[in-house]
Amino acid sequence: MINKFIVLVVFVYGTALFAGVNSESGSAIFSERGCAMCHAKDNDTVGPSIRMIGIRYSGNENKLVAYLKGQSQPIVYPERDGMMRPQLMKIGNLYEDEYRSLARYMIQAFMRTDF
Ligand code: HEC
Repeated sequence: MINKFIVLVVFVYGTALFAGVNSESGSAIFSERGCAMCHAKDNDTVGPSIRMIGIRYSGNENKLVAYLKGQSQPIVYPERDGMMRPQLMKIGNLYEDEYRSLARYMIQAFMRTDF
């Protein structure tokens, strides 16, 4: 119990540090670039839920970063790639650490108590 709490505190603190000064945080990018329109937190809507994306990419942050850059094939619902692919243009101009923060947001967000 206590261990879990410490892990959570370290994680939240680490995320805040990681957000840096000049780059936007993953959650800000996600809401500001319209991703939430098709991606709800817990339930699949037009697109897979953030939880589903997180589960599929768990432990595979590098692959999700590559996908977000348009350099990797989809693995969640590839048959619906036609709808998602054009959305990647909205995030075509991010910095490296912003891609990473966005990927991390989707993979880890649902583990946070405030998600
Ligand atoms: C118009 C609706 C729509 C919007 C807006 C949208 N998506 Fe998607 N997204 C989808 C659909 C449909 C899928 C399922 C296709 C797939 O899994 O490749 C998907 C799948 C994904 C996946 C899983 C890819 C995989 O491996 O299969 C990720 C990650 C993702 N979206 C991130 C984002 C981000 C980040 C944004 C904002 C820039 C965004 N989406 C905006 C509809 C949308």
